[in-house]
Amino acid sequence: MYRHIQVSPCTARIGAEISGVDLTAALGPEQVEEIRRALLQFGVIFFRDQPMGHEDHMRFGRCFGELIVHPGAPGIEGFPLIVAIHGDANSTYVAGEQWHSDLSCNAEPPMGSILYLHTVPPVGGDTLWADMYSAYEALPERMKAYLDGLTAQHDANHVYHALYHDYDKAYPRNDHPVVITHPESGRKALFFNPQYVSHFNGVSDAESRMLYDFLTAHCADARFQVRFRWRPHSVAFWDNRCTHHLAIWDYYPQTRSGFRVTLKGERPTF
Ligand code: SIN
Repeated sequence: MYRHIQVSPCTARIGAEISGVDLTAALGPEQVEEIRRALLQFGVIFFRDQPMGHEDHMRFGRCFGELIVHPGAPGIEGFPLIVAIHGDANSTYVAGEQWHSDLSCNAEPPMGSILYLHTVPPVGGDTLWADMYSAYEALPERMKAYLDGLTAQHDANHVYHALYHDYDKAYPRNDHPVVITHPESGRKALFFNPQYVSHFNGVSDAESRMLYDFLTAHCADARFQVRFRWRPHSVAFWDNRCTHHLAIWDYYPQTRSGFRVTLKGERPTF
């Protein structure tokens, strides 16, 4: 099935480690096609021992689409498309400590993100991903019928206002279906984001809160998850349309550091 890369699945549902590629050099079209196929098949794919510079990181990302500027995290100096992901002894916050998919608040949420870490703590700092196809498929039929056609508001304002105290600034806020059809695989996935969803449309506040709590717990079921233990110069590439992720900050005061790029997506559809 794969002739130009090696693919080793991490769990029965989600995640695979890819080897036989050098992300510090230009990839051939066959490798790009197989990496895209592995991403679609496994939701998140991992690479080891890839000491990428910023240009390598962007070149790799651009094999899969256009890179976008993050509306809530400034790019690093000279590289507006690259955001720093960093935690150390001086940090009071690190990104991604709540289950989420990236920037579902955008009108066109990203198709994927690519995170490269050059420095990791001796232990800890793992990231978890959860498979939202499995989360959808595991729902009772009555709940699937209830969610069919429902939309939720994905609002970034509370997230970034709490972080930056810039209450006058408007961050993206958009409605999206709660169940989407993945544009490439054609499979149905839950598209719910505990970090950004402020409410479900067309239901009472009480019902919206109940649904939020139910879906938050449901999506965090360990059966849907893969947990990745980073090493220096590891790379994770995930599909934001069908996965959630969670970064664990259990390594204070150690340093964990790297960079992320984000790939343009399209408006989700039922
Ligand atoms: C994020 O993109 O949410 C950060 C993930 C991580 O630091 O592992």
